[in-house]
Amino acid sequence: MSTETHQEDCALGEPFLELRCIHKHFGAIQAVKSVSFTISPGEVIGLMGDNGAGKSTLVNIMAGNYPPSGGEIYMEGKRVHFSKPVHARKNGIEVVYQDLALCDHLSAAHNVFLGQELKKGFGPFRILDSETMYTVAGDLFRELKSETRPRDLVREMSGGQRQAVAIARTRLNSARLILMDEPTAAISVRQVSEVMELIKRLQHDGIAVLLISHRMPDVFAVSERIIVLRRGQIVADKPIACSSPEEVTGLITGAIERA
Ligand SMILES: Nc1ncnc2c1ncn2[C@@H]1O[C@H](COP(=O)(O)OP(=O)(O)O)[C@@H](O)[C@H]1O
Ligand SMILES: [Mg+2]
Repeated sequence: MSTETHQEDCALGEPFLELRCIHKHFGAIQAVKSVSFTISPGEVIGLMGDNGAGKSTLVNIMAGNYPPSGGEIYMEGKRVHFSKPVHARKNGIEVVYQDLALCDHLSAAHNVFLGQELKKGFGPFRILDSETMYTVAGDLFRELKSETRPRDLVREMSGGQRQAVAIARTRLNSARLILMDEPTAAISVRQVSEVMELIKRLQHDGIAVLLISHRMPDVFAVSERIIVLRRGQIVADKPIACSSPEEVTGLITGAIERA
């Protein structure tokens, strides 16, 4: 354990993840400027901001897709460098991307195990262990209280079920933080509530969630904290109970400078 704790976090114990003064530029574009915040175990944080505010860039940095141009990342007090997505994953960080990154022609179970397929047999006789993958995926869907069936093809699934597949995938590696970049952008209202239920269930299991969404009611329904980004900078980081949709809208547009 590091002795370097941050003042306001002492009372809460060590944060799971801490970003300190993270910068990211793409050529002349400053996408993320001096961003610092912490995420505690089991905390659900809403991250909001206009298009181009830097939300996805921040997610990509935390997921090991982009190296930051400056700043530091700490996990449980230890400095970490995620130069590849597998590094972030090994440290318990998983991402649900906006497009979900699923293969339509494969089953739900095969999508859950995409890139980490289980095999059986020896040497040249190793083959996919589909039965075990169906069983494990079935257990994960049950845990998530989703009606998704492991053998169903993804192309025949509803948006909510696809979402469950993308989230079940993050559970294979015992994720401790799930970054969700606009997870409800492409699904119907009824399915949105399924995703909100999933988020509450993850939180109940002590998993932290960073939820990026344009849907103000969703963010207010599940988040404990709200972070607003404007032009790459944090303009608010506060308990959601101390904010309001009106304030957040003002912060996003710039009508309110900072809160
Ligand atoms: N790979 C990239 N190359 C160049 N510019 C990028 C790249 N990714 C994002 N940007 C720029 O960085 C800024 C922040 O983008 P982004 O993080 O996608 O915002 P958000 O997700 O909040 O809409 C935008 O100006 C965007 O054009
Ligand atoms: Mg984005």
